[in-house]
Amino acid sequence: MKNYLLTMIWTAISICLHAQNNYNLIPQPNKLMPQQGVYTLKKGMTVAVGNELFTPVADLLTTQLNKVSTLGVSSKKGSNGGINFIMNPSLGKEAYTLKVSSKKIDIEASTGAGAFYALQTLLQLMPASTSGDQQTTASISVPNCTIEDAPRFGYRGLMLDVGRYFFSVADIKRFLDVMAVYKLNTFHWHLTEDQGWRIEIKKYPLLTQISSVRKESMLGHYRDRKFDGKPHGGFYTQDQIREVVAYATSKYINVIPEIEMPGHSQALLAAYPQLGCNPDKIYQVATRWGVSEDVLAPREETFAFLEDVLTEVMALFPGQYIHIGGDECPKTQWKESRFCQNLIKQLGLKDEHELQSYFIRRIDKFVTSKGKKLLGWDEILEGGLSPNAMVMSWRGVQGGIEAAKQKHDVVMSPNSFFYLDYYQGDSKTEPLAIGGNLPLSKSYSFEPDLPELTEEETKHVVGIQANVWTEYINNIKYAEYMTYPRALALSEIAWSPKAKKDFPAFKKRLESHLPHMDAMKINYSKAFITQ
Ligand code: ACM
Repeated sequence: MKNYLLTMIWTAISICLHAQNNYNLIPQPNKLMPQQGVYTLKKGMTVAVGNELFTPVADLLTTQLNKVSTLGVSSKKGSNGGINFIMNPSLGKEAYTLKVSSKKIDIEASTGAGAFYALQTLLQLMPASTSGDQQTTASISVPNCTIEDAPRFGYRGLMLDVGRYFFSVADIKRFLDVMAVYKLNTFHWHLTEDQGWRIEIKKYPLLTQISSVRKESMLGHYRDRKFDGKPHGGFYTQDQIREVVAYATSKYINVIPEIEMPGHSQALLAAYPQLGCNPDKIYQVATRWGVSEDVLAPREETFAFLEDVLTEVMALFPGQYIHIGGDECPKTQWKESRFCQNLIKQLGLKDEHELQSYFIRRIDKFVTSKGKKLLGWDEILEGGLSPNAMVMSWRGVQGGIEAAKQKHDVVMSPNSFFYLDYYQGDSKTEPLAIGGNLPLSKSYSFEPDLPELTEEETKHVVGIQANVWTEYINNIKYAEYMTYPRALALSEIAWSPKAKKDFPAFKKRLESHLPHMDAMKINYSKAFITQ
């Protein structure tokens, strides 16, 4: 009798634990009401699409289910399916509800994006193998529940630097695939650097012929001063850019291109030296990491060139923001340049810092005149901007605070929380990284609601972003290792309600979610497990 009772109790505990484990969602939803029972997908079941806006999402679902199972799922217009996509115009832009009962699954949304996020949640509620690409004989059940969900922030971003190392179109698609699973909606594509220019510009073919290739790359850490002696290069044709943008759009991800100026432009100068401060200088695409002193000169010819480049860039990216860098522009060459010093006098400027502001303001005016909005690193704030320009705060949050106080929209991307090229574990055992110490718990601890801002000013903080700089990251597998799981901390801060933030609970959920990441073959770091 005693044994029988113990068995009963143990069975009850197991059921509870099992149910708990099945709700290990990342990012966690706004509201989740667990219920008894499960919905089991049946052979030949249909996915009913109540509005054509949901057709692409329903297709993604049936394709995935048919890849991993022999259920033979199909979609149809209308209602009364096993899984139903239902239009609910009262829901917000990215919001959804998901109701799983023993009889059916109902998904409500007002947009394709909302339905897409419901799909991501649904896949996480299914067995981990459902997220993979292998056929599995296991049946697919979903624990009953009602979920009401919507994001905390509209901007949930990741940046990938393809200037230091080039990543193929397939790599970028993979990067986007994983972002989408975790409801990240903005891909900031850092396309130009001192060490490489990566985007085809039809009017200036030397940018791809010359600026896209460097002679060699650094081996080991910067301080070792060693080189590999091997050329490194690559660029995206405009067709490839369009292909990536379309792919991202299909996953409800907006792509923001970044074209760096006036600093981080040495690769450009290797092809067009007349745009530099010393037109007689022989520039080369940089081979060393670090910030180059070779910067653009604020000549009329330079502005004309950049306007041509931006015109082609703007035609490729349908989103409203164009990132123009603006960070880390050393002023040494402007100090030494007779042209720059004369221009400072002529314009009545105080110094080279005001000259940088003049540079950014001119580009800002141009971008704004074309109906787009300028975005730049927090250095752009120094000289006054058009009201619709947005600031990306990377040197901590101070730039973001100032920008919000000046009524500019802000993306918080503080390096000490969100620079994913920093070590996430012990530097003695982790693969080579730039430095720093950024464990998962530190990323998770970032809070975008800042005491320095009033409620009104806080509204200007539109979201957060983590950045994958690639001086030490020369392949997509390693990029993934540095990105995950820290990008999941970002995803949860950006999506889930502030009141639910709880690192120990997040860590536990993440540990239970790992089989899904394994099924997707995500090369995540396990450093957090023992931290
Ligand atoms: C930056 O890290 N220079 C934006």
